[in-house]
Amino acid sequence: EQSQDLAGKQVIVTAGGTVERLDPVRFLTNDSSGKMGFALAEAAANRGANVTLIAARTSAEPIQGVNIVHVESAEQMLQAVLERYDSADLVIKAAAVADYRPVARANHKIKKSEEKLVIELERTTDILKTLGEKKKHQFLVGFAAETEQVAHYAMDKLVRKHCDLIVANDVSQEGAGFNVDTNIVQLFGEEGLLEAMPMLRKREVADRLMSIITQRMQAKAAA
Ligand code: PMT
Repeated sequence: EQSQDLAGKQVIVTAGGTVERLDPVRFLTNDSSGKMGFALAEAAANRGANVTLIAARTSAEPIQGVNIVHVESAEQMLQAVLERYDSADLVIKAAAVADYRPVARANHKIKKSEEKLVIELERTTDILKTLGEKKKHQFLVGFAAETEQVAHYAMDKLVRKHCDLIVANDVSQEGAGFNVDTNIVQLFGEEGLLEAMPMLRKREVADRLMSIITQRMQAKAAA
């Protein structure tokens, strides 16, 4: 029987890949399926939390008992999270958010003309960093999708974005990261590596992560 150790807690999970439009029929996105974020939302709901899942582009199945908010772009995800941030106890940012978006969005389908077409991109707002800077009572968990020097970049994100925990996945490993049913994660806290998990189904990864997150939230609240 799952303990209800998140009963009464407001939890926000973000999932999926953001969509940055070029014109009405074309967009930039990434390989995120949303499965990792959906698994975390379900794991939190099973522990009694009141969960809002802010989902960009995803192929994951809806979850019973979880309130879903659909968004498209990084900007929309930012607004959806900020609207709910003050009342949140825990925020988990599993979404793959675009770092760049097209500077211009055409109102009509872009026509074929020259041999080469250059698309200018601009930086999006870093949602996690924004949340870190505004953090009060909230417990903030970020993800890090890396292909090299995983520990180094994970710790850099933890410090720079003011996160309580970072879940790092080496997305170049088979069975880890984008658009698969399993993941291989390493969890980092301010003291460094806390746990390195073997390859597990994302739902199992989510349960193990939620156990540690819950313990740490309780320890932080008691401190
Ligand atoms: O969805 P799946 O197919 O199940 O795949 C899962 C996953 C690989 C997408 C997931 O496990 C994962 O790693 N998610 C984070 C992907 C990512 O964007 O990583 P990043 O290292 O670029 O970003 C670091 C953190 O900053 C992330 O928490 C991200 O949500 C956040 N971020 C990034 C850019 C931005 N503009 N705003 C952000 O908040």
